Amino acid sequence: MKKLFAVIGDPIGHSMSPIMLNDVISYYEIDAHYHPFKVRPDELETAIRGLKAIGIAGFNVTIPHKSAIIPFLDGVDDLALSIGAVNTVVNDNGKLIGYNTDGYGFLKGLEPYFLTFTDKKVLVIGAGGAARAIYFTMAKMKPLAIDITNRTVKKAKELIEACPFESNSKSLTLEEAEAYLDEYDVVIQTTMIGMYPKILETPISLRNLNTEALVCDIVYNPLETQFMKEARQKGAAVQNGVEMFVYQGALAFEKWTGIFPDVKRMRENVLRQLE
Ligand code: ATR
Repeated sequence: MKKLFAVIGDPIGHSMSPIMLNDVISYYEIDAHYHPFKVRPDELETAIRGLKAIGIAGFNVTIPHKSAIIPFLDGVDDLALSIGAVNTVVNDNGKLIGYNTDGYGFLKGLEPYFLTFTDKKVLVIGAGGAARAIYFTMAKMKPLAIDITNRTVKKAKELIEACPFESNSKSLTLEEAEAYLDEYDVVIQTTMIGMYPKILETPISLRNLNTEALVCDIVYNPLETQFMKEARQKGAAVQNGVEMFVYQGALAFEKWTGIFPDVKRMRENVLRQLE
C-alpha cells in the first residue's frame, strides 16, 4: 500500500519540504507521497491522533508545533527531549517517536569544512529555538570551546545552563562578541536577522573576524545575507541556511526509509524553489 509522509505546521503553504522530498521519493522509486497539512495549534492533538489512526509512515513538524507536539507522542529521543523540540516523527510499529534532525543537519552541512571540532572555537549568535538545536548538538561533539552571544544575555546563560553536555561555555554580550571575534574558528548566526525584507541588518560587527573562520547563517532568504556578504568580503568561508535545511530533510528521509538520499539533488531542488 502507498505510504503517506507529511509535514504539519501553520502556516505551511511556503514549505519547500514537499517538493524536495517527493522528488527523492520518486527518485528512489518508493511507493509513497509526502503531503503538507496545515494544523492549527488548537487542533494539534486531534491531528496527531488522526495521523496515527491512518497509519502515517512518518512526518515532519514545523513552526509552531515543534515543542507543543512532545506530550502527544509515544516517545521522544533523548537529544530531541533536551532540545525541547521535535522536527521528525517516525511511526515505529504503531508508536510515534520524535527526533530532532535540525542540529545534526547543521553539523552534516559542515562536513566539507570540518569532521571534528575538538580543536575549534565556536561562537553561536542567538539563543532561540534554532540556537538551542544547534548548540546542544554541537556541544555533544566536544568542541574546544562553544560560546553564545545574544542581545538578551540572560537567555544565553539559560541556554548554557540547560545544556545536557559538558561545554564550559561562556555567555557574551554582543559588544564582547564583537571585541573577541578573532578568537573563533566558526561563527554561527542562528537568528532571523538579515532575512527578507530587512536584508541590511546584521547581528554583530565583523570588524575583528578571523579571516580564516567559517561563518554560517541559518537564513536562506536571501541566499546571501548582509552578514555573510561582510564575512565573505573579509576573506572568510561562508555558508547559508540551505545546507541545514537540506540535511535536516535528508536525515528525516533516512530515518523513514533507511536510505540517505542524494543531497546534491535535494540542494538543487531547493535552490530552484528559491529562485
Ligand atoms: P527561533 O525560535 O526561530 O530561533 P526566537 O526564539 O524568537 O526564534 O529567537 C530569536 C533570536 O533572535 C533570539 O536570540 C533573539 O534575541 P533576544 O533573546 O534578545 O530576543 C534574536 N533576535 C531577534 N531579533 C533581534 C534583533 N533585532 N537584534 C538582536 N537579536 C535579535
